Amino acid sequence: MSSIPQHIAIIMDGNGRWAKQKGILRAKGHEEGGQTVQRALDLCLEHGVKWLTLYAFSTENWGRSKMEVSALMNMLEKYLQERTPEMMEKNVRLHAIGELYMLPEKCRRQLEQSIEATRNNDGLNLVLALSYGSRQEITAAARKLAEQVQDGTLQPQAITPDMLAANLYTAGMPDPDLLIRTSGEMRISNYLLWQISYSELYVTDVLWPDFGRTEFEAALAEYARRERRYGKR
Ligand code: IPE
Ligand code: IPE
Ligand code: MG
Repeated sequence: MSSIPQHIAIIMDGNGRWAKQKGILRAKGHEEGGQTVQRALDLCLEHGVKWLTLYAFSTENWGRSKMEVSALMNMLEKYLQERTPEMMEKNVRLHAIGELYMLPEKCRRQLEQSIEATRNNDGLNLVLALSYGSRQEITAAARKLAEQVQDGTLQPQAITPDMLAANLYTAGMPDPDLLIRTSGEMRISNYLLWQISYSELYVTDVLWPDFGRTEFEAALAEYARRERRYGKR
């Protein structure tokens, strides 16, 4: 097995604390976090990681102040607008997972445009989790299977884990090999619950805006040391 993870998922946490430490607005922390996204993307390209899934906004994050939510949505739109040409240059294909219909219309349109523009790129796959919640995702998948049962096209006994997986937003994507969380919190916060069943977990105290080469390579080194047993040995 390769010692480089094929798929890295990241919980990009700590923008608020970073801003607080500096005595500046939370929105500034999020902006700095946006720069880190680019850094993480470049590090994945450099190390040959094929999939990068970033937790950018959770379903629960809608509960933050109106001001913070709108700052984040504006940033997302701007980020996509500014960075799509670079994604083209770097052969990056963009995907998004989550309840995308919840996003403000301008933002959703820009997202659709960027996804469409990059659809033939076959280098790194960048997956943005937006308005994403894993319980909501699994519930929606269960609902789709239930509809097929109701139609009479599916027998309950015939439902398999693969069928459930095929109805998640992540259908067709490999499961993450490595899950990184910044800012030290030892929790998953409703992220990819199904998909990380056998992912290796790595938590660093470094705040997301400060995350860079040193921490990224430390995570890769730690991953290479892990023995993945999948319950078998
Ligand atoms: C992560 O940073 C970014 C989002 C959740 C959008 P936070 O905003 O959660 O930062 P902390 O956890 O308050 O430091
Ligand atoms: C998880 O971070 C969501 C994202 C990084 C987008 P949160 O800051 O929202 O999670 P909690 O509140 O620490 O669980
Ligand atoms: Mg947080």
